[in-house]
Amino acid sequence: MRVKLAAGNWKMNGLSADLAEIDALAAAHPDPRSEVLICPPATLVAAMAARTDGTAIAVGGQSCHPAASGAHTGDVSAAMLADAGATYVIVGHSERRADHGESDDDVRAQARAALEAGLKVIVCVGETEAQRDASNTLDIISGQLAGSVPDLVTGESLVIAYEPVWAIGTGRTPTTDQIGEVHDFIRARLEARFGTGVGRSVRILYGGSVKPGNATEIFAVSNVDGALVGGASLKASDFGGIIAALDAA
Ligand code: PGA
Repeated sequence: MRVKLAAGNWKMNGLSADLAEIDALAAAHPDPRSEVLICPPATLVAAMAARTDGTAIAVGGQSCHPAASGAHTGDVSAAMLADAGATYVIVGHSERRADHGESDDDVRAQARAALEAGLKVIVCVGETEAQRDASNTLDIISGQLAGSVPDLVTGESLVIAYEPVWAIGTGRTPTTDQIGEVHDFIRARLEARFGTGVGRSVRILYGGSVKPGNATEIFAVSNVDGALVGGASLKASDFGGIIAALDAA
């Protein structure tokens, strides 16, 4: 059985005062059935990890450099995130791929570094609207999986997030049939590459405009093991509604 995962991605949002949202979330969900993860900006990882100690909330980073240390001004390594109390890191988010020109090779190197540092890794994949309109969605996903996911993963250390670029922050979501088609495809690719043991253990999250109001129907789709949530993870009340829907799924 895969443990469901509700992952929040705060993106470039959050100051110290916003840690109060985490206190509220922890108080409202002291013992969730699902795993709960928040990925704040790097500046808040250590403070959030200290603040969530003893709660059910885990903390992750949003990106990491492939090197462990060195002359890379402005970057953060996986070992630094782990040292600050993170247990997960997101890699290959479409905003990183677009804003920082990160390629599949870059993402794979980051994922490898994260695993070497003992972090679990959430590898993001997803098509643009033009790619979906051209019926290229599964080809794009296939290429991103092959290029971005390193070889040395386990069922527990790897999470895939399917995030259609056109659904992120737009309020638009694919139909449940479209989500199911991609999640089933990702599962089949993982089983073909890593064998059924590992392939069936990897969690596959859906991301892109998940809200309390649409979470229940998304979580009922086959091979959806949780969500990667941006905007609706910033407020404890919204994210709490998503956790409740996942716990009930
Ligand atoms: P959104 O972002 O929930 O605000 O659409 C999702 C994501 O980018 O992970």
